[in-house]
Amino acid sequence: MSDNSKYLWWQTGVVYQIYPRSFMDANGDGIGDLPGVIQRLDYLKEILGVDAIWISPIYPSPMKDFGYDVSDYCGIHPMFGSMANFDRLLEETHKRGMKLLLDLVPNHTSDEHPWFLESRSSRNNPKRDWYFWRDPLPSPANGRGAGGEDLPPNNWLSCFGGPAWEWDERTGQYYLHTFAKEQPDLDFRNPEVVEAMLDSMRFWLDKGVDGFRVDVITGMIKDALLRDEPANPAWDGVEPFASLQHIHSSNLPEVHEIIRRMRALVDSYPQRVLIGEIFALPNAELVKYYGANLDECHLPFNFGLIWIPWTLEAVRGKIEDYEAALPPGAWPNWVLGNHDQPRIATRAGRDRARAAAMLLLTLRGTPTWYNGDELGMENVTIPPELVQDPPAVNQPELAELLGRDPERTPMQWDDSPNAGFTSAGARPWLPLAADYKQVNVARQLEDPRSFLNFFRQLMALRKSSPALTVGSYRSLELGSPEAQANCFVYERQAEDQRLLVALNFSGREQALGLSLPGNGTILLSTGLDREGEIDLSKFSLAPNQGCLILL
Ligand code: NOJ
Repeated sequence: MSDNSKYLWWQTGVVYQIYPRSFMDANGDGIGDLPGVIQRLDYLKEILGVDAIWISPIYPSPMKDFGYDVSDYCGIHPMFGSMANFDRLLEETHKRGMKLLLDLVPNHTSDEHPWFLESRSSRNNPKRDWYFWRDPLPSPANGRGAGGEDLPPNNWLSCFGGPAWEWDERTGQYYLHTFAKEQPDLDFRNPEVVEAMLDSMRFWLDKGVDGFRVDVITGMIKDALLRDEPANPAWDGVEPFASLQHIHSSNLPEVHEIIRRMRALVDSYPQRVLIGEIFALPNAELVKYYGANLDECHLPFNFGLIWIPWTLEAVRGKIEDYEAALPPGAWPNWVLGNHDQPRIATRAGRDRARAAAMLLLTLRGTPTWYNGDELGMENVTIPPELVQDPPAVNQPELAELLGRDPERTPMQWDDSPNAGFTSAGARPWLPLAADYKQVNVARQLEDPRSFLNFFRQLMALRKSSPALTVGSYRSLELGSPEAQANCFVYERQAEDQRLLVALNFSGREQALGLSLPGNGTILLSTGLDREGEIDLSKFSLAPNQGCLILL
């Protein structure tokens, strides 16, 4: 057996994402909070066996983007609790042997952050150049104005709809916002901004947090000349933001220097981790965020399994491509869902969600799991009058496509009113899923074949298996062409332990035609209905089934 102790916790462990507004509400205001998270730590540790928690932003914020608009990097929003609550959360998490990661949001602040209030107050305020302030382009010069009006400084678009520039009457200039207009972008070409952000990180590292997930890490540096972005020839005409190629506002070479500074700081504390949110980059670009000398992100989030249709061809293609792109020494990681993406049970379909979970937890590298997916929770349709997410509110015609409320609904703990998420009389900030009486933690714990019990067994097997946590990965060619077109089979191996993961992406039974001699032992099946010895050469998978087999 290989020696797991030479690997670090963020390599062998499973990261669990808590979206705090929706996880557990202890004070009955309908919004989740830190005391609520503390109440549920035993669920994470004892029931699921999670190793690390990443909690989405809990800082003071006007909540225009639900916490991703930070007005104080070193505080706690009273809605979530107090700093004393946070200290207790950290202590209780550590007491249980788990790690706690915060969400760092450096690309932009809230427009109510004191830095921005200063910056906006006058053109010669010392913090003016902490943000991007520019004069309008007079119409004849810009070549874009039809009606003779002055226009924003360039053609950049906000991810949440409309131009990326907001006019500020007081000082007569525009400021840049890649997201909502209440989220002005900081200028990381200014060394004072870099130092201020590093100071904020230091504050939490000194408290003992185990690292950060860094929001929009690729976007922290903008083109020095703020040049117009070219049209995207592959645009499908749907989402306006996708109509441009974001070559001057994202993924610029100079961003790597800022990330190296962050990494050096994180590395000056023992056993901390830096995870970067990398959005929609091909693998060859994504892996650059490990750093040329592996001196940037420990884990640049790999969203490869998020952007694809849930077909065998797409999934296998992504995995092989990513494995091939990884630089030597880089530790892989995989993500199936988060608070910005439709839930996996909705994307892959309820029948295939278990096999998707088996995939995530048996691929090589660190998995990140989104709260509630362990119940098979699905996206919830939000009635128009209850829609809250800015891209959906700003672009109602695209709400269904872009709105992120459906994957952010409250966690379903039991079948009591409000699903045990908040007190019975409260009004949860987003509606609960209609099926919460059937789909909830308490009920699934009692059902020996539930999604939750399947997930728990998968987590336990992963933890106890060196092949799964640190072993090698190799996909297998299948004997029958039909199986090859419908099933994904790979081997994980660490020294004397060899495991086979076999996943059927089709709704039909598939004989795999494995050219492996002898017998194997099924350790786990997605339906929790198959185990024990099998003849490998005759092995078939039931429709949509996944099996974990010891060779
Ligand atoms: C990515 C975050 O995950 C998302 O929720 C947020 O809206 C944007 N970054 C802007 O911070």
